[in-house]
Amino acid sequence: MMEQITPVKDFHGRLLKDLRISVIDKCNFRCTYCMPKEIFGHDYAFLPESELLSFDEIVRLAEQFAKLGVTKIRITGGEPLLRKNLHELIKKLNQIEGISDIALTTNAIMLPKQAKKLREAGLQRVNISLDAIEDDVFKLINGRGVGVQPVLRGIQAAIDAGLKVKLNMVVKKGMNESQILPMARYFKEKPIILRFIEFMDVGNHNGWDMKNVVSKQKIIDTIHKEMPLEAAEANYYGEVASRFRYVDGVGEVGVISSVTDSFCASCTRIRLSADGKLYTCLFASSGFDIKKLLREGCSNDQLITNLMKLWARRKDRYSDERAEGKHNNRKKIEMSYIGG
Ligand code: GTP
Ligand code: 5AD
Ligand code: SF4
Ligand code: SF4
Repeated sequence: MMEQITPVKDFHGRLLKDLRISVIDKCNFRCTYCMPKEIFGHDYAFLPESELLSFDEIVRLAEQFAKLGVTKIRITGGEPLLRKNLHELIKKLNQIEGISDIALTTNAIMLPKQAKKLREAGLQRVNISLDAIEDDVFKLINGRGVGVQPVLRGIQAAIDAGLKVKLNMVVKKGMNESQILPMARYFKEKPIILRFIEFMDVGNHNGWDMKNVVSKQKIIDTIHKEMPLEAAEANYYGEVASRFRYVDGVGEVGVISSVTDSFCASCTRIRLSADGKLYTCLFASSGFDIKKLLREGCSNDQLITNLMKLWARRKDRYSDERAEGKHNNRKKIEMSYIGG
């Protein structure tokens, strides 16, 4: 029998619906806007394995979140496919009552090996990062000189395994705005939704400047001139991407505009880091140490009480505040640590 669900609202009346779980802080890429190799070099101190939450700990937490109304889980990293036996975690999460959507955000490099196993474990869809369709541009961005082909093979493996695929392309001026049209053309007729993401001021090392943001409007105008677009309705409440469909009826794109058109008012997301801290915003500077409670032997009821309190006092609306011109120079968590 389904246990009673106790929906919780934060300070601004927002429900808690999505849990984003980072399973590892390492990545096999060094994207310039996320993990610049000058900072994330050989001597960078990644989390030791003993600090990572075990699959059982993650599942236990996810079960408590489901009791508070969470229906959607996204697995992130770093690069989540670097976490050993990830499919075993997916399988366990898939058995939790109330969880109706499980997805994964990945750079796809390891999908040819893992897609089938993940699908069999109950994964329904993947969001894949790809910032260019031309090798030269992509090699510079990912910091590891990897060409586009390995990612395209990962995409194909996902499709062959029966996973639904969306693509994420971060757009940064001077880096890849030349790729907006080529990417749109390349994926228009494929069974894949391409989403453009405005370059965000996440973390402390990505050298963000408003000058480098290509706005949602600019992105849409660029495509619209060649391939007319019209706005489409959201698939679900609080969808991060705004949708646009091609007027000719073939395909759609999305834009994630956290900078020029922020969406904090409908933000129902909480983030769990690989080392067991909870963050109520992508731009938070500190998290709530839930691993400590878990490892001290706290009961499920005590866990739930803590989660409810944490959500009830949540006031975060960082991107809205940025749009209102409120400067905030606080230290932030790294994107690779919390998975976007
Ligand atoms: P769907 O469930 O497929 O709609 O996925 P999603 O768009 O929520 O997740 P994904 O991991 O693909 O995120 C795409 C981009 O949106 C990433 O760059 C995220 O950092 C960004 N994003 C997701 N959630 C938030 C958020 O709450 N705030 C901000 N500012 N950006 C977010
Ligand atoms: N701005 C926007 N998106 C970013 N991502 C990583 N860093 C940034 C940034 N500074 C994206 C990745 C991935 C998603 C999880 O977050 O490209 O698609
Ligand atoms: Fe690039 Fe994603 Fe890895 Fe960051 S986590 S370096 S965006 S592949
Ligand atoms: Fe949610 Fe924070 Fe992103 Fe706003 S900036 S949408 S509150 S995660």
